[in-house]
Amino acid sequence: MKMVGVEARWNSGDSVKRARSLVQTVKLLGSRSRPEISWVSKVTGTTVERAERAVDEITMYSESIEELSRNIESTGRSYYAQFPAPLDLFALVRLSRPQNLVESGVASGVSSTFLLLGIKANSAGILHSIDFPVFRKGSRGNQPWAIPQGMYSGWAVPTKLRERWDLRQGRSEDLLGPLLGEIGTLDLYCHDSPVDVKHFEFEMESIRKYLRPGSLVVADNTDKKVFDEAARSVGAEAFYRRHSSLGAFRCPEGTGTERNSTRAVVRHAISKGP
Ligand SMILES: C[S@@+](CC[C@H](N)C(=O)[O-])C[C@H]1O[C@@H](n2cnc3c(N)ncnc32)[C@H](O)[C@@H]1O
Repeated sequence: MKMVGVEARWNSGDSVKRARSLVQTVKLLGSRSRPEISWVSKVTGTTVERAERAVDEITMYSESIEELSRNIESTGRSYYAQFPAPLDLFALVRLSRPQNLVESGVASGVSSTFLLLGIKANSAGILHSIDFPVFRKGSRGNQPWAIPQGMYSGWAVPTKLRERWDLRQGRSEDLLGPLLGEIGTLDLYCHDSPVDVKHFEFEMESIRKYLRPGSLVVADNTDKKVFDEAARSVGAEAFYRRHSSLGAFRCPEGTGTERNSTRAVVRHAISKGP
């Protein structure tokens, strides 16, 4: 089979150089960004070898990652890897090749950058991002995701990646429903807008009827009970990364037909208590 694009370039490369480059990337993003291949493999239902290759491909985009890093460091922030698994996120996009991606929670744009890199590598897809930005007020006491005054959501995303990006500023409570109505189906959803359980429940309920077989749902800062029930309501299993609250599930065959309502299942779960 003839290999094209990223795959061809990958095969012509030097594996030692690639391994070094991956180590450098993790250094740049912080140690918690070390990829968890087995998680990527479980979530996508692919082999560990394929998952590993997909993660490793990120090394072909070190220029963009360095640009993201330079942008954030230029404002004096030392901590910028907000989404804990950016390399895994890139691999999820590579392996599932989504057309419609929706993200809730952008901040400076770390997760957006890696979703857009996956789109670039696939030469397919569009990322719709929603963010209600919080701004830095002074040098202390800010939320870790607060963006510098005068900037905007996703300001640090490298310019060259923005072609396939539809960024909307506002609360997901107001924007998510209309956006989903516009795009019709959802292939990958990434939740990273931590507010409270009700907000998370709202997002899980909003996306449910737009999911189809093979859609991926990724969420950080999850309420595990709500997330597990959301997965179960479409017949999926949620997998969590390194015992963290970052989870993901893949929708099985039959998703999209009217079955159980997440709202009903989730409310039941909450009413049962811990
Ligand atoms: C943890 S940060 C996102 C980090 C980002 N994914 C990254 O990788 O850097 C959460 C973001 O959600 C935003 N946010 C908070 N409440 C929101 C809401 N109701 N709707 C949309 N975004 C919200 C915050 O202002 C912040 O920008």
